[in-house]
Amino acid sequence: MLDNTPIVGLNEKACQMLGVVPTEAVGRPLGLWCPDETMAVWNRVFLDYISLKVSHEAETVIRCKDGSDLDVILSAAYPKRPDEQVFVVVGLVDISERIAREKALARAQLDLAHAGRVSILGELAASITHEINQPLSAIMANGNAALRWLNRPVADLDEARAAIGHMILEGERASRIIARTRAMAMKGSGEHSVFELKPTLEEAIEITRRQIGLLGASCTMHGCDTSVRILGDRVQLQQVIINLIVNAAQAMTSATCGDGRVEVHFRAEGRRAIVRVIDSGPGLDAASAARLFEAFFTTKTDGMGMGLSVSKGIVEAHGGTIAACNNAGPGCTFTVDIPIVLADEQDVDGGSPALRFA
Ligand SMILES: Nc1ncnc2c1ncn2[C@@H]1O[C@H](COP(=O)(O)OP(=O)(O)OP(=O)(O)O)[C@@H](O)[C@H]1O
Ligand SMILES: [Mg+2]
Repeated sequence: MLDNTPIVGLNEKACQMLGVVPTEAVGRPLGLWCPDETMAVWNRVFLDYISLKVSHEAETVIRCKDGSDLDVILSAAYPKRPDEQVFVVVGLVDISERIAREKALARAQLDLAHAGRVSILGELAASITHEINQPLSAIMANGNAALRWLNRPVADLDEARAAIGHMILEGERASRIIARTRAMAMKGSGEHSVFELKPTLEEAIEITRRQIGLLGASCTMHGCDTSVRILGDRVQLQQVIINLIVNAAQAMTSATCGDGRVEVHFRAEGRRAIVRVIDSGPGLDAASAARLFEAFFTTKTDGMGMGLSVSKGIVEAHGGTIAACNNAGPGCTFTVDIPIVLADEQDVDGGSPALRFA
């Protein structure tokens, strides 16, 4: 329809906005100035016309002559005309400055969040260094001692064994310190409740919309409408999905491949809920695939390498699993699998379920 709707006139300001002189626009189809991604807006413009509304207003973009897109508020008014011909009066308000300011603000908020995480991680790193130094020194001292006992003309195996036993104990102490630190990094709301999965996922997608939009990506949800309920920390599980969506969007832009579309699929399979986050980015090479969930493993210049490690901790605390695999086509899929609360596991009064939080 847009290609069959010629422009019959435009004022000076409209010419400035589009970067044209009147003769370059008059008689040419409106569609030339409407990028494909704005078709949903134009569909509504025509639907409102058909349903006899007087006007339609929406925030969208128009394509200028130089190929750049201009953020505008578009208002389409449908004046009554006695003859058969249909006229639409399109008003455009340039809001590019406001949008640029909003984008700068979103970027600043992101940077702030990142800086916040860096400083928390800096503190964590300092405390890890401090606390782990001690078991490490003990491991080295015991290792040296074990070597000395073994290197004697007649090796003293009992002493060597005892020293190696100490090394193992100190190693266990170090991993307990790391586990505790990791738990600190996984701050959630601390509340465990029964919640519906679908709105939780929808909210996570909404939270990431702006952030991944800046990367040129978008996210859609695919799943059934039946109730799937989870017992656990809603905020933490949402954090997991947010991490996966952001990673997916980053993978597609960093390698400038993929169509920028992230898909979140969910379904219930018996007593488990399966959530998949699918991208069409570069996928995983064997070396990264093996180390994805390790703390501080990152291939990004500004990455912390904590997203997946923290996500794995959260999912496992909910009795679930998280895994990644390459797609048959481009990209990869992260799958989260967590137990669900079945209807008969709910108390009669609908209160606390008969499940225990792991
Ligand atoms: N969807 C994906 N496609 C390809 N590689 C991925 C994907 N998701 C994660 N990765 C790889 O796994 C690494 C670890 O991801 P993780 O989320 O733990 O850390 P990060 O994104 O690098 O940093 P941050 O802590 O800021 O999230 C990434 O650096 C990237 O190499
Ligand atoms: Mg990440």
